[in-house]
Amino acid sequence: MKLKCVFTSGILSLAISLGFLICLSLTSCDQPRIISDRDKPFDLQGHRGARAKRPENTLPAFKYCMDQKMTTIELDTVVTKDRQLIVHHDTALSGKLCLDLNGNPAEAVPIRDLTVEELKQYDCGSLGNEDFPELKPVPGTRLSTLEEVFDFVEEYERENQPESRFRFNIELKFPSDHSSNDINEAAELMVSAIEKAGLVEYSIVQCFVMDMLPAVRKLNPSIRLSALFQPSYPQGAMLMAGFKANSEEIMQKAITAGADIISPYYLYVQPEFMLSARSNQLKVIPWGINDKDLMIKMMNLDVDGIITDYPKRLYTTHHEWKSDDL
Ligand code: G3P
Ligand code: CA
Repeated sequence: MKLKCVFTSGILSLAISLGFLICLSLTSCDQPRIISDRDKPFDLQGHRGARAKRPENTLPAFKYCMDQKMTTIELDTVVTKDRQLIVHHDTALSGKLCLDLNGNPAEAVPIRDLTVEELKQYDCGSLGNEDFPELKPVPGTRLSTLEEVFDFVEEYERENQPESRFRFNIELKFPSDHSSNDINEAAELMVSAIEKAGLVEYSIVQCFVMDMLPAVRKLNPSIRLSALFQPSYPQGAMLMAGFKANSEEIMQKAITAGADIISPYYLYVQPEFMLSARSNQLKVIPWGINDKDLMIKMMNLDVDGIITDYPKRLYTTHHEWKSDDL
């Protein structure tokens, strides 16, 4: 009897200690409280223009993004064979995004093996996306260079006279086997395109490859830099389950790279993450946020902007939140 009692209380204290340990790791148990500032400038960013609504990274997507009053156009760029920056997400053509001249899904040719002229033969506007049922195809849409996007936005501004100029959050994409020469070359192309367009003040350069950020800074210290982070699959699963993000590692990487902004997948954004970013003078602009409740959760955590595939939803939600209607 006595033995059973000792055994039972042992199990009980083990369970309590385990519970305590789990509680320590869970977000809801000991997270600091964050007070959000509803009046601060908030960066509304259309991801790949408006990925859920128009063919991603194309002029129709950028037009939609501007029509919905986003402050910033988020877009991706890749270096071509003839050393230009083409606006595209993948580093090889994808049959999910583009059709060839015969109307067949594009073969996976690396972008670095194609010239802009060759890339422009593909139709990257006809295909839908099962993840985004509201996407309206725009058949015949061609890929654009970064320079062409800058011109398109300037023309839109001339015609529509928005209250303020649109901003750009330009990502550089690299194939996994990239070299340091690739990084330096891409940095030079990017900085020269931004300077030539007179958009230094209006541009952020973002990258998952941390070495890219100092390469840009060296060429032009005034261009703002954003460090991108994505959790691995197991990390994502832990974060989804409510465990605290181990954010110090990515925070240190962003600081070492000289970033002004840390731009993580939204699951990282928890109260302690925000406090750490603040104490390191980093702005926080998370991505992957399409759901209204999630947008509000991020705004309540006092993030500095949100990157979404649904610009109209973001605009409306932010407007309501700001007016304290939520
Ligand atoms: O801006 C961040 C976000 O664009 C990163 O994800 O894969 O859509 O470029 P991805
Ligand atoms: Ca991107």
